[in-house]
Amino acid sequence: MMGMQSRHNGFDQPLASEITAPEVVADRRALLQQMATGAAGVAMASWASRHAIAQSALATEKPGKLATLLSTPSAVPGARVIEKPTSYKDASSYNNFYEFGTDKADPAVNAHTLKTSPWAIEVEGLVKNPGKFALEDLLKLSPMEERIYRLRCVEGWSMVIPWVGYSLAQLIKRVAPLGSAKFVEFVTLADPKTMPYVGSRILDWPYTEALRLDEAMHPLTLLSFGMYGEILPKQNGAPVRLVVPWKYGFKSAKSLVKIRFTEKQPATAWNKAAANEYGFFSNVNPAVDHPRWSQATERRIGEDGLFAKKRKTLMFNGYEAQVGQLYAGMDLQKFF
Ligand code: MTE
Repeated sequence: MMGMQSRHNGFDQPLASEITAPEVVADRRALLQQMATGAAGVAMASWASRHAIAQSALATEKPGKLATLLSTPSAVPGARVIEKPTSYKDASSYNNFYEFGTDKADPAVNAHTLKTSPWAIEVEGLVKNPGKFALEDLLKLSPMEERIYRLRCVEGWSMVIPWVGYSLAQLIKRVAPLGSAKFVEFVTLADPKTMPYVGSRILDWPYTEALRLDEAMHPLTLLSFGMYGEILPKQNGAPVRLVVPWKYGFKSAKSLVKIRFTEKQPATAWNKAAANEYGFFSNVNPAVDHPRWSQATERRIGEDGLFAKKRKTLMFNGYEAQVGQLYAGMDLQKFF
């Protein structure tokens, strides 16, 4: 999902790996890299080997259960998709976390440097009760639930992940937004010492995202601390991230450090990088194509054999009954 100005192709070419066997793509990439660098041993950096490392027990070892994460199934309508969850291995080794690299395999290999403790989220802006919330307090703020959500990436792939957390609305109610608050901005960690790609020109760091206040307050919007009953692996956005299941995956900001309530619509990282490609709303919508590819179908990770059938992408990622009314009367071609 790179902007047109960028030359890197790690994020914007889902099609290449869909029409070409991964081994062939890997070979080509390795070859290109060898040509570019001329360095010995560079084949180790090929997609295939990095993917193998990412999938190794070392990189996908589960970080462990946390007492507070003992969760119960969510009672929120729509919060439990009846589909087979993606394997833990795939969900924790095929990631987008550009602070740790642009290849899907990079975060699982590189994110071990992320320091998740101590951690706090600062809440500021148009709220009655601003302040710094330590992770320990956030974990106790509301009972944890398990939610099985589809995550549809703007690049054309999807997963089904059992997240653990609670509605962001719980935290929002605690901080009490003022009447003037209309939007919520999410700021994520940008630490050049532990995040090797912060400082690169891919994005304007920190990675930020934003929602309208009513979207942020919707019960499906999840503040997540875990997945598959475990605390979040670093590559999935530890120790705390957002999951907004009816929007493209890039709205689900990882490793949150600040939540800011504003009157004006905040800028967002991908919108700043390429406004014509990544709109503010970014609701999953099969009828609105990305300028460079169709959004009508998706590839479910784990079903990606050469002959696996693509799935039809559903309006609002299948959550239309729950969230459709948030956009009543809006022209979704214009407000994409
Ligand atoms: N958050 C940060 N801070 N940095 C990122 O690069 N990538 C986004 C989103 N959150 C991203 C991020 C994108 S494009 C997607 S699809 C999801 O994270 C992927 O989440 P997952 O790796 O847990 O499946």
